[in-house]
Amino acid sequence: ELGREADRPPEVNNPSPSLCSDISPLLKDPAAFRTLIDLLEDHLRASFPKIDFVAGLDSRGFLIGPPLAQRLGIGFVPIRKKGKLPGPTESVSYALEYGQAELEIQRDAVEPGQKVVIVDDLLATGGTMCAACELMKRLKAEVLECLVIIELKLLKGSEKLQSIPFYSLLQYD
Ligand code: PRP
Ligand code: MG
Repeated sequence: ELGREADRPPEVNNPSPSLCSDISPLLKDPAAFRTLIDLLEDHLRASFPKIDFVAGLDSRGFLIGPPLAQRLGIGFVPIRKKGKLPGPTESVSYALEYGQAELEIQRDAVEPGQKVVIVDDLLATGGTMCAACELMKRLKAEVLECLVIIELKLLKGSEKLQSIPFYSLLQYD
């Protein structure tokens, strides 16, 4: 719970996301975006003989996951913020810099033993990706890899993922 606006730190009232972690320029440039999906496709094809689904994280993971899944000829599964998905869901709450959030997946989204790659735009503290992994664990799916475009190394988010394989295309300090 963030509390009254006046009590919050200024960056919460007026968030100013960093330019180095903004993928908008990549999306705007069709050749760059195609190259991005090419690179991610090549990486996944070289790493895994079989993937059942790409799962993407609400909301910026939705910009990358579906085009990548299409390239691989497989389906896409959305992991959404709380209260958006119909039907029975599993949910996991996770810590944000200020407060808590919750991610959900439909209980029938993935079957036990199915192989999933989870994609998002950015790994910062790793809290969001970690929550997504917990959801996959609840459904007994196998997370082959957590894949992001940008990793903010200084925050050591990948350590939170422990033994789950992790891949980032770009790294910043
Ligand atoms: C951003 C980003 C990642 C997450 C990374 O999402 O898209 O999902 O933060 O942070 P973490 O590693 O510290 O958890 P955000 O929650 O801002 O929402 P959005 O994708 O809907 O913009
Ligand atoms: Mg996000």
